[in-house]
Amino acid sequence: MTAEQSPDSLKAYIDEHLPAFLPAIAKADGGTAAEAAAYSLAVGGKRIRPVLLLATAQMCGVAKAEALPFAAAVEMIHTYSLIHDDLPAMDNDLLRRGRPSCHAAFGEANAILAGDGLLNLAYETLFEALVVKSTPERLAAAAELARAAGFRGMVGGQCLDLSESLHEEPDKALYAIQRKKTGALIRAAVLAGARLGAAGDDVSGQLTDFADALGLSFQIKDDLLDVQSTSGTLGKTTGKDARDGKLTFVTRYGGREAERIFAAEMARARAALSELEAGGLFVTTLRAIWRYLEQRTV
Ligand code: IPE
Ligand code: IPE
Ligand code: MG
Ligand code: MG
Ligand code: MG
Repeated sequence: MTAEQSPDSLKAYIDEHLPAFLPAIAKADGGTAAEAAAYSLAVGGKRIRPVLLLATAQMCGVAKAEALPFAAAVEMIHTYSLIHDDLPAMDNDLLRRGRPSCHAAFGEANAILAGDGLLNLAYETLFEALVVKSTPERLAAAAELARAAGFRGMVGGQCLDLSESLHEEPDKALYAIQRKKTGALIRAAVLAGARLGAAGDDVSGQLTDFADALGLSFQIKDDLLDVQSTSGTLGKTTGKDARDGKLTFVTRYGGREAERIFAAEMARARAALSELEAGGLFVTTLRAIWRYLEQRTV
């Protein structure tokens, strides 16, 4: 079993290695759009998805260097989703990760292309890792990420987020939106780590429960921070969800009930970790991530 590491050290590992996946492109082929992609990927993100992937992979016996391309790919997909989420046609946000959002800094066309390029780079990274070593486990991990990025996951959730008709059945729609637009990629990060480590059905099931609850509560916290925090602290514009008529846990149920559902989902995630631990797994890192997400203020 590979030794577990703290979430901070895994984040530092990602921050150190992520830029190496980009530079040749930024200088040569992509011009300004590639520069824009590098700008958005560079700093300020919590890197929670790649950290979850590395932590889960390590827990299942896979060294972090083996899992790195998969972790890098999920962060690229996530960053592209943020670039597009901020575009005028979507949330029209000028601030992201404490800096002007991608289109604010580089213009709309470059931001669209930066997102397209990052999404493609994620798949290039995955395929190149598979060319180096193609095992059923690594293929399954890549498929997990691809499925969660698309219409059945993040993109599908973003479609719902922008749709008017969902307001006809708001409670049902709300869970579907948040599970897909945010939950899917978080869940896939955990499950990709599990696939890399060839986790069995029991462990995969417990990790699915953990990740599903964690992914949902992550977006509830995002909704809460939109009303509880400030743009300066959060590094993105706050107070926008109500103004834009977004269906969120806070706009639908109010802050207090959103807090209650957040706590209930976090408890569900913690219970899944206890089950994994009872089965003999070392959940120290995942528990530290849980604690961080429970208390996070950004
Ligand atoms: C923000 O994600 C958008 C959501 C999916 C809720 P994060 O809160 O993970 O943003 P970064 O990566 O830390 O900037
Ligand atoms: C975005 O949800 C989810 C994505 C897939 C990017 P939000 O629109 O609430 O994310 P923020 O608050 O802008 O980060
Ligand atoms: Mg949005
Ligand atoms: Mg947004
Ligand atoms: Mg938000």
